[in-house]
Amino acid sequence: MSATEKPVTSVVHPLEPLAAEEVSAAVEILRSDKGLGESQRFAGITLHEPPKEEVLRYEAGESVEREVAAIVLDRSDGATYEAVVSLTEGVTKSFVHVPGVQPPVLLEEFDECEAACKRSPEYREALARRGITDLEPVIVDPWSAGSYGDEEGRRLSRALSWVRMGEGDNPYAHPIENVIAVVDLNSMEVVRVEDHGVVPVPEEPGNYTPEAAGTREGLKPIEISQPEGVSFEVSGHEVRWQRWRFRIGFTPREGLVLHTVSYRDGDRERPILYRASLSEMVVPYGDPSPGHWRKNAFDAGEYNIGALANSLELGCDCLGEIRYFDAVLGSGSGRPFTLKNAVCLHEEDFGMLWKHYDMRTGETEVRRSRRLAVSFVATVANYEYGFFWYLYQDGRIEFEVKLTGIVSTGAVRPGEKPQYGQLLNQSGLYAPIHQHFFNVRLDLDVDGRENSLYEVHTESVPPGPENPEGNAFFAKSTPLRTESEAQREVDPLSARYWKVVNHSSLNSLGEPVAYKLLPHGNVRPFAQPDASVSRRAAFMSKHLWATPYEPSERHAAGDYPNQHPGGAGLPEYTAADRPIEGTDLVLWYTLGAHHTVRPEDWPVMPVQYAGFELQPSGFFDSNPALDVPPPATNGHCH
Ligand code: NI
Repeated sequence: MSATEKPVTSVVHPLEPLAAEEVSAAVEILRSDKGLGESQRFAGITLHEPPKEEVLRYEAGESVEREVAAIVLDRSDGATYEAVVSLTEGVTKSFVHVPGVQPPVLLEEFDECEAACKRSPEYREALARRGITDLEPVIVDPWSAGSYGDEEGRRLSRALSWVRMGEGDNPYAHPIENVIAVVDLNSMEVVRVEDHGVVPVPEEPGNYTPEAAGTREGLKPIEISQPEGVSFEVSGHEVRWQRWRFRIGFTPREGLVLHTVSYRDGDRERPILYRASLSEMVVPYGDPSPGHWRKNAFDAGEYNIGALANSLELGCDCLGEIRYFDAVLGSGSGRPFTLKNAVCLHEEDFGMLWKHYDMRTGETEVRRSRRLAVSFVATVANYEYGFFWYLYQDGRIEFEVKLTGIVSTGAVRPGEKPQYGQLLNQSGLYAPIHQHFFNVRLDLDVDGRENSLYEVHTESVPPGPENPEGNAFFAKSTPLRTESEAQREVDPLSARYWKVVNHSSLNSLGEPVAYKLLPHGNVRPFAQPDASVSRRAAFMSKHLWATPYEPSERHAAGDYPNQHPGGAGLPEYTAADRPIEGTDLVLWYTLGAHHTVRPEDWPVMPVQYAGFELQPSGFFDSNPALDVPPPATNGHCH
């Protein structure tokens, strides 16, 4: 197709993810309009989502404007451009230079950076000082450079290295400590190699295959059988299940996106969530030693975590009848590629939903809970992150991150005990203490766009006439009226939660309908407030942020966190301290997972969970799951 022809798209919804042909067409239009060649790379090609008003107004069968957003990196001069291409009109609508920013590290740059290191005499010498002369089994991970004032405006990685001790060997058991290759990712030159002193490479293997670990006995099969098929319906990227209705989206930056989540209540289709996604994440490490103190990966904004999604295979990650969705992305060269089975959709039995036994009549009513799981799993070099959204029959929505994979490792001299990490074996292998902070952007539309925010905690009543017997306590609701008032921390000891309320929609009690954000476990960051990572990931400093809807505000640490000095994203978005009462409210929840590494996390870490939930809170008039049918075995459970 030439750039002047209008690409034909048969799109059934404005939020339908890009098809491979649309990616190709957009790249071709851009290349021809802007004369892009080999030196320009694409650092993210995604659907340019239409304005919210248009999406909400859209009715089936209407024609749809298709636009593509692309980030273009010119490797010859390091310049970054943001492009919007209209597929409908076949033209580049805008092409804007964004000065002083670095797009995320691209998949292509992983291999190229490794090759660049291996070509560098300085790097080879550093490895030779450690007795490594065969570079074949050496792996190089292009760690993001951060911002410490020594980057000189270049697109840099501070690359770290490990070595395999044989075929299929786990390289993360063998860190090449204290060698940091500073690589210019545009020119693929090694700018310098920092060598902070030789530490012997730990030799003990850390393998986890059945051959290495053995296989225990005694496990009989468990089979999940759905003889009549699944209870959900899928049409394109729209899913309906148990009164829920939503759309699946996928972007390179965020991975899975949930759009237009609603619940059918009688004959009303009630909106709850317009858009939900991971907005950013960061992993600050607590080890001040030379090889580790700059480790703090922003895996969304610095690595495009969606582009690192696994291709999921039946039976491996999920059980039961599974519906997969492919993700169509663009490579650095602008070629579309399809990540097969990137998103997994399936139902899970989830134990008891509700139960009562009337002890006087002997009658029991019990219901089993079913949940719908929508997920993707990404591998960021050593770590794995599973991102799961669960919808429940009682109107709850849960977000859960499953953290697994291999901890980031380092080495100490034999006999040393690291203060800032956990020794993993006798050959000096250790893993530094660290934290994982995720920020989830939640564009809630509880029964419509105009919502307000409250903090609720429970307080004891002081002894006195109001509380003569000393037993009194009650839930107190406080409005959060501005962006600054809405910057809050969790407080589990006061049973704190936050409530998104629609004052113009009342339940049968005459109270405004609401959904509440209920934190699960959480933690504070331990880096000093003026540390570089704290400035760059300022979203960590508060668990809750709220903003009025603004489509360009999408990323908690800003559009380009890679090498950014800080202050972007939520601090900037909320600087004007806008009012948020009765607005189209967006919540940003920061979820911290603390990782004091255990010996049991080695060589591959059992899944650690972190999450939160959204619960209806007066959204329904009573338990919305009363009508879930009794299990076939009701009354016959023993
Ligand atoms: Ni961890």
